[in-house]
Amino acid sequence: YDYDLLVVGSANADLVIGVERRPGAGETVLGSDLAVHPGGKGANQAVAAARLGARTALLARVGDDGHGRLLLDSMRDAGVDTTGVLVGGAPTGVALITVDPSGDNSIVVSPGANARLTPADVRAAAGLFTASQVVSAQLEIPLETVVEVVRSLGPGTRFVLNPSPPRELPDEVLAACDPLIVNEHEARVVLGADAGSTPSQWAEALLALGPRSVVVTLGGDGALVADATGETHVPSVKVDAVDTTGAGDSFTAALAWRLGLGESLAQAARYAARVGALAVTREGAQVSFPTASEVAAL
Ligand code: RIB
Ligand code: NA
Repeated sequence: YDYDLLVVGSANADLVIGVERRPGAGETVLGSDLAVHPGGKGANQAVAAARLGARTALLARVGDDGHGRLLLDSMRDAGVDTTGVLVGGAPTGVALITVDPSGDNSIVVSPGANARLTPADVRAAAGLFTASQVVSAQLEIPLETVVEVVRSLGPGTRFVLNPSPPRELPDEVLAACDPLIVNEHEARVVLGADAGSTPSQWAEALLALGPRSVVVTLGGDGALVADATGETHVPSVKVDAVDTTGAGDSFTAALAWRLGLGESLAQAARYAARVGALAVTREGAQVSFPTASEVAAL
């Protein structure tokens, strides 16, 4: 394979303001100076993997504007192959983000060019799919585009999906996931009414929907990994949280890459937990992702 990981997904400019607390309806609060960072769940995954040393390509769409150039610069600095990054059709996606003193965020995304990444764009990039060991996606691009992604996978290519923001998924997509990676909220939405109430119940119910494997991320409690052979709990790495934005994306990217190297789900999740832990100790998404030597030193 030419690429360890092909990411198909979004690229956003993150407009970030620190707040003491979030305003309610009709309320105004003053926050910190504005920071503009490269983000988006797809571009975040690609930059995270490339910074760890994975040979990584991204299929995405940005606008022909300053935000698009900010993203292309970030990807190139990290070593992401950007031949699959299409330019134009709409302004670059934007995420309006507030970060509170505990490092937690709330995010509103305006998809912009991400909504114009079409099934035809996926078909036109067929060569990238057959050249990639692992393909990963998220849901800040149209669902029909993700469906085309799973139809484009090469015979030996592994598919990893983080359904964020979550919605119910077609059987065809669920059956392709190995693993499906969800947090509690995403698990509940994907499962619908009969979600159950424990991580173990979510994992079991999700496996019954068709994925070969499932990872339920549990924030400070680590992650539960599950497949037909059983379940393993992977503990978290304790750190002081500064900004959790994009940490989940770095976890997913690291996990996808390590699976492609032949690690087990539990081994890959242990490595990915260290990557995500380092990402939460620094501000921003892509600008906070660690190198492999930083992970080794943790
Ligand atoms: O997962 C974090 C990302 O979500 C941010 O970078 C923002 O762009 C939104 O896509
Ligand atoms: Na961060």
